Amino acid sequence: MHGKKLIVGNWKMNLGVHEASLYVHALSELVPIHQDVEVVLAPTLLTVQSLSLQVNRRQFKLAAQNFYWRDEGAYTGEVSATQLHGIVEYALAGHSERRHVFQESDKDIRNKVQAAIRNHIRPILCIGETAGERTDGETQGVLHDQLVSGLANITSEELGEVTIAYEPVWALSNGHDFDKHPTPTPRDASDIIAFIRAQLAHLFGKESAQKVRVLYGGSVNIHNAAGFLGAKGVDGLLIGGASLDKQAFSQIVEAAHAGSKQVKVK
Ligand code: PGA
Repeated sequence: MHGKKLIVGNWKMNLGVHEASLYVHALSELVPIHQDVEVVLAPTLLTVQSLSLQVNRRQFKLAAQNFYWRDEGAYTGEVSATQLHGIVEYALAGHSERRHVFQESDKDIRNKVQAAIRNHIRPILCIGETAGERTDGETQGVLHDQLVSGLANITSEELGEVTIAYEPVWALSNGHDFDKHPTPTPRDASDIIAFIRAQLAHLFGKESAQKVRVLYGGSVNIHNAAGFLGAKGVDGLLIGGASLDKQAFSQIVEAAHAGSKQVKVK
């Protein structure tokens, strides 16, 4: 587990080039640099390059929301991790919208994790159960399978580059209802993250598992963020809807800063 909290804002398919630039400018005035909080923004691929020239990387790091796993070639419409190298430090892989809306397979996701590592970009592997899987009592099985598959062929050493985001699919907002959408309790998220870490320890050894940051994501907002951040084992947050509200996002970063000074609650 890590001392530094990781707060990732996933903007999804929102904000054009001009809007994104204005938004980052506004955020840069609201979000102070804290040594104990790492803030990462995941804009669309269209805007990531221009924002990489705009941001102070001590204040904001950038993540790709998506990329193709081959390094180069005849793949019309795709962008590779090789091309993103030097522009982003992180990249999402296995986000539920990629899995469910774009039918990405476990193999695609595993290839992306490997491509990111090969290109010195830190993958954020998203895992989570759907509402139906939860109701059927399959949560642990689903998470286990997504971890084993997503991290196949990764060495214990490479595991240190990986972040896991636990995002229960049933808790994801549609970008607008994150203030009233159902979520797990911080205690539930903490228990599931303990399960995830135990699986990592089983696969890679306890020491390597401790180096992996595990985030919670799903309808995080200014009211529930501190609770999740204070839950045992939660190393940070992956935030969708609320990351597009500059006041909310900056308050969540402040909550991470304030919370990192407090004793963790169970
Ligand atoms: P949400 O999205 O915070 O709007 O639920 C999180 C995500 O999809 O990563």
